[in-house]
Formats: sequence, structure tokens, C-alpha cells
Amino acid sequence: MADVKRKRVLSGIQPTHDSFHLGNYLGALKQWVALQESHDAFYCVVDLHALTVGPDPVELRRRTLASAAQLIAIGIDPTKSTLFIQSHVPAHNQLAWIMECLTGFGEAGRMTQFKDKSAKSGADRTVVGLFTYPILQAADILLYQADQVPVGEDQRQHIELTRDLGQRFNSKYGQTFTIPEGYILKSGAKINDLQDPTSKMSKSSASQSGVIELMDAPEVNLKKIKSAMTDTGREVIFDEKNKAGISNLLTIYTAITGLTVDAAQNDFDGKGYGDFKSAVAEVVVDFLTPIRSKAQELLQDPAHLTAILQEGAAKANAVASVTLAETYEALGLIPRA
Ligand code: TYM
Repeated sequence: MADVKRKRVLSGIQPTHDSFHLGNYLGALKQWVALQESHDAFYCVVDLHALTVGPDPVELRRRTLASAAQLIAIGIDPTKSTLFIQSHVPAHNQLAWIMECLTGFGEAGRMTQFKDKSAKSGADRTVVGLFTYPILQAADILLYQADQVPVGEDQRQHIELTRDLGQRFNSKYGQTFTIPEGYILKSGAKINDLQDPTSKMSKSSASQSGVIELMDAPEVNLKKIKSAMTDTGREVIFDEKNKAGISNLLTIYTAITGLTVDAAQNDFDGKGYGDFKSAVAEVVVDFLTPIRSKAQELLQDPAHLTAILQEGAAKANAVASVTLAETYEALGLIPRA
């Protein structure tokens, strides 16, 4: 049988904190790991996107390497996936400019993440990079001719913009880009904060007490889950409207154990919230403990990590430079040689 060309996936994660959280993992990263078995996978640590929050250089450097270490620790295999740092591939910025010239000002202004973040800080303290953030993201994706983009629910609108920009370019300048689809799970695409179970778990939450970090000590996560906010009543049933806290914990529990919600509900039939929270805490901690150790071990050898990322950058550059050359050609930019 002829070798069928594998579909391509691309995704990215920001190195804005020392640790990823369980929302990142269940919403996106778990799918990154699974998809590398069946797809030609490109995964990047999007350090340029992280500049929109004005990070301290020492922290950014540390967090970028810590991000790569965590990705390998959760199961991204650099022999199967191309793992790289966004700023190592200059074509991301180059294509972003071209996409900026195709994006309407109003269109960019309608991005809800931009609206929410800029509303919080006010116009004078909102950087232009935050406004163009989704356009750089579109460039990340289009550059690799990705078919699918595994992300959490909060990225749906950015993927839609990417599709619009790709289609706009293709219809104006001729077929150049693959139009990608979001790969967004039905369950797990939005993990909520354990203390505020109607808001998403987020690295930028005011309080970290409802955020489960991959790199936190097991006892810290155990405590956070055991003190998760629950609802009135005592039955463990999935009901997002009336039992947001329990439903969120059920989503986490089933995503990690692989059980169905029905099976989990049956297992806890007649037991109270306390028993259920202890069980969730146990499976989460058992799952995260080896990941944390593996990431810590990888961080002991930064030279090895750097070598992996350099190899990834070479592979990524090879693909990205072809797309960029085709894009320049389609636009009528004169090649240098
Ligand atoms: P970032 O770093 O903010 O988030 C990384 C991934 O985690 C998902 N996520 C969640 N999923 C479920 N529940 C949550 N509470 C939760 N919080 C975060 C996000 O949806 C994301 O998939 N803009 C991207 C970074 C990016 C990118 C790209 C993604 C830049 N370029 C190209 C895909 C393709 C982001 O949100 O990163």
C-alpha cells in the first residue's frame, strides 16, 4: 500500500510561568502527545507571544527551558515531534507582518481575549503586541501548512481568525496556505479554577489556590484539590449549571482515569464529596508526580535540552522557509537571489 502522507499538527504554549497547569495539560498538551503518534507534529514554545506581558529576561530564559522540559516530561518525544522555540524561526515574524497587512483593524479589535485583557489594563497600558498577538499566532500555524491545531476552548476564536486570514490570502494571491481546523475536545477543553469553578483555570488568576501546577510539590496539589470549592448537596453528579465545582472535578477525574462520567458517577454513588475529592486528589497527584520528577531531571542538563531545541529549530526552519518563499513569490516580492 502506498505510504499515506501524514497530516500535520501545530500548536504552541507560552513560557509565561515556571509551571504549566492542569488546564493546559488536559485542554491541549495531552492531545499534543497523542497526536504525535499519528501526525507530523510541530510544537513550539511561543516566547515571542510571551513578550506581550513584559517578562523579566532572566525569568523568560528560565521559563522557556522549563517549558521545553515539561513538554518532554509529559511525553512529547523529540524523535517523533519537532519541538522548537518560536524565536528560533524568524519566518514567524516575517509572515506575521504579511498577515497584519491582511487583517482589518476592527477584526483584530473583536478578539475577545484582547478585549478582556485590554479592558483590565486600560488603553495606555495595553501594548500593541497584545493587539497583534492573534495575527502572530495565525502566522505560527499557516507557516507549517498545519491541518489541525490542538488547543483549548479559549483559542477557538484565534483559530477562526487564522482560517479567515489563510482563506483571504489564498483567494487574493492564489492557493498558498492549508486552511487549518481547531482540534478542540468536547470534554476537557475548558478546565475551571478549583476555587472559582465558573472561571477557567488560568496562570494569571489573582489567587493560585485553585490552579493545579504540574511543577508544584505533590502535597501542595493534594491540599488544593481536597479544599476545592464544591456545591450544595452531596451527590457526585455531572451538572455544570447547578454543580459547577463537582462537574469540574468530574471532568478532571475522567480525563485522567479514562473512565466515562457515568462510570465515575456510579463509583461514587452513595459516597460524599469528601471521598470523591480524595480520589481526585490521589489520581491527579499520582499522575503528576513522575512528570514533575522527569522535568526536574531534564532541567539538570540544560545543554541537552538546548541541543534538542536546536535540532527542532533546524527542522522547523526548513519547513517555514519554503512557505515563506512561496508567500513572498505570490505577493510579488522580488527574491534576493
Ligand atoms: P497558552 O500558553 O495561554 O495556553 C496553552 C494551551 O492551554 C490551553 N488552556 C486551557 N485548556 C483548557 N482549560 C484551561 N483552563 C486552559 N487554559 C489554557 C489553551 O487553550 C492553549 O491551547 N495563544 C496560545 C498560544 C499560541 C498558539 C499558537 C496555540 C501561540 N501560537 C499557535 C496554537 C497554535 C495560548 O493560549 O497559549
